[in-house]
Amino acid sequence: MPSLSPDKKRERRATPKLIIRAEKQHIISKTRFFKSKQGIQNQTIQGITLMGLDWEQRYQSLDTPWDKGEPTPGLLEFLSNHPLSGKILVVGCGYGHDVRTLSQQGCQVVGVDFAPSAITAAQSFPSISDETYLIADIFNLPKELDSSFDYVWEHTCFCAIAPEQRPNYVESVARVLKRSGKLLAIFFVNPPNQGNGPPYGVKVNELDELFAPHFTLLEDWQPTQAHPGWEGRERMRLLQKNN
Ligand SMILES: C[S@@+](CC[C@H](N)C(=O)[O-])C[C@H]1O[C@@H](n2cnc3c(N)ncnc32)[C@H](O)[C@@H]1O
Repeated sequence: MPSLSPDKKRERRATPKLIIRAEKQHIISKTRFFKSKQGIQNQTIQGITLMGLDWEQRYQSLDTPWDKGEPTPGLLEFLSNHPLSGKILVVGCGYGHDVRTLSQQGCQVVGVDFAPSAITAAQSFPSISDETYLIADIFNLPKELDSSFDYVWEHTCFCAIAPEQRPNYVESVARVLKRSGKLLAIFFVNPPNQGNGPPYGVKVNELDELFAPHFTLLEDWQPTQAHPGWEGRERMRLLQKNN
């Protein structure tokens, strides 16, 4: 792995302070969010109560080993050869490192996560360009987002949901993409824990079957860059929504 740039080192050092500040702010911002977004209030509360509690607790107790304090290496590798443009949704964005990377590229980016503390911390980072964040459950996204994105970027959200939710995940992603929109994704095909909780691994043939009803596979490869310890465990795919 190449060593971290001074910017990345600064971002990594800054994270704990930002999260502590975010913890104090999160009750206030959560209340404001619910008051100001009456239309999606119920969906969001339901998402947090039924499915997000554990994730929210993990963020509140700063128990977030998945956060590496930097963007996903496989995404950086892809972007170095394939600059993206247009409107991008980052699902399960956590602290938003990938959101800011895509914003830096000139994309219009929305990061979504149902853990309010993650979103508050993401919002605490200095704004790059055209990025916004939304507290919402990916299985209950606001209707206004339907057919509105050129791309969805996925890293470690698919592996965070229960395997039985995967068909709903595929439906949700297809719903928010424009006609011929694309899903760019890294899937965890070989997680270190083959057990009961996330990250839930997925087999390549399962990916083929799951996405076939709504997507055509354009490219499939193994990223050469990965977070330390994740090398060889990931599979990257570019899929296009069927019209
Ligand atoms: C393993 S973390 C990865 C976070 C981020 N992508 C990263 O790499 O640091 C999974 C994220 O997905 C979010 N998440 C899980 N299920 C979700 C759902 N149904 N709707 C929205 N976010 C969800 C969690 O809150 C958490 O932030």
